[in-house]
Amino acid sequence: MVGGGPGSFIGPVHRMAAELDGRIRLVAGAFSRDGGRNAQAARAWGVAADRTYGDYRQMLAAEPARTDGAELAAVVTPNHLHFEVSAAALKAGLHVMSDKPATLDLAEARELAGVVASSGRLYGLTHVYTGYPMVREAREIVRRGDLGAVRKIVVEYAQGWLSRPIEQDGDRQAGWRADPAQAGVGGCIGDIGTHAFNLVEFVGGARVTALCADLAAVVPGRVLDDDCNMLLRFAGGARGVLIASQISAGARNGLNIKVYGEKGGLTWSHERHSELVVDWLDAPTQVLHAGSAYLSATARTASRIPTGHPEGFIEAFANLYRDFADAIVAGRSDTGLVPGVAEGLRGMAFVETAVAASRAGLGWVPLEEAA
Ligand SMILES: NC(=O)c1ccc[n+]([C@@H]2O[C@H](COP(=O)([O-])OP(=O)(O)OC[C@H]3O[C@@H](n4cnc5c(N)ncnc54)[C@H](O)[C@@H]3O)[C@@H](O)[C@H]2O)c1
Repeated sequence: MVGGGPGSFIGPVHRMAAELDGRIRLVAGAFSRDGGRNAQAARAWGVAADRTYGDYRQMLAAEPARTDGAELAAVVTPNHLHFEVSAAALKAGLHVMSDKPATLDLAEARELAGVVASSGRLYGLTHVYTGYPMVREAREIVRRGDLGAVRKIVVEYAQGWLSRPIEQDGDRQAGWRADPAQAGVGGCIGDIGTHAFNLVEFVGGARVTALCADLAAVVPGRVLDDDCNMLLRFAGGARGVLIASQISAGARNGLNIKVYGEKGGLTWSHERHSELVVDWLDAPTQVLHAGSAYLSATARTASRIPTGHPEGFIEAFANLYRDFADAIVAGRSDTGLVPGVAEGLRGMAFVETAVAASRAGLGWVPLEEAA
């Protein structure tokens, strides 16, 4: 693991998720640039002192030389390090599971795609919402054509935790997210807009071909966007709306997606993530529940315990790690349902296109194929 020091958000989630099914074990890490904090994380997680490295480069030099060396690197640092750590790990012969966004900018994402291709290793991107059972069921329903042709998709990702300039008061997680050198050209759009965009394409089944973006830095003093509103057009003719906001005061982690087809629509809401509501034009509404026998195989296998027993964020994350472990063990060249470098490229193209178009007031712009 690179990153994930004491007090960090997502590193500990990766550790729990990766280890949940007994397929992956944390054996080495460069958890923090601070020696004391690095050692503290290693002790807490039972990583041997001689496999706790002060710098990720030392780790990538030492681990491949061991007979029991690490095979998979989890990249859980702030955004500006995703590319250099992921590329170095792939070149050192490790598979990579990186957190999003894939890179700092689109140029890096293109370079990363080249490194992935030439490495012969697998690259996964933890767009965790794709790991929820009922998101996978929603995707299946759309793919089966139950709703008929998709006409409209609405996704909203609302958070309120950046409603005040807490980055100016020393909040660590807000601090790097508000700094273009560490976050990239996008603020909210890179941080959570990429999740919403990935979810729209994962569930909706069609690519976004054009967008009309209005991004704002609402909180005074902020350089990067904290509120994003946009219209979307999809291949196949569907239209959509994407909202991502970190100044929606009072909102916690409100991710909602609605997909409307000719015959009905479905709604998934992160705050009731074990349910999927399907509304029919000519029939009563259905509420499907995670863990139920009537779900598709992909959704059923994404639950570990019987219906009605709460699972959540860590288990969804664990589904990505379990699928990734399956792909590695089987020697596959694709990551299956786990987002990969192609999705990383799409995400970075989305961020750069929307930020540039909004700044220049361009209105509708095409979202080019990134690869
Ligand atoms: N998939 C998700 O749902 C999700 C959720 C939250 C964050 N994230 C992503 O995860 C990444 C980390 O976010 P976070 O909220 O955990 O940030 P954080 O600030 O809480 O943690 C970052 C960690 O990286 C460490 N770090 C920084 N530079 C390092 C280096 N050179 N070597 C080793 N460690 C280093 C820091 O010490 C810290 O422990 C971001 O890219 C973010 O976008 C994803």
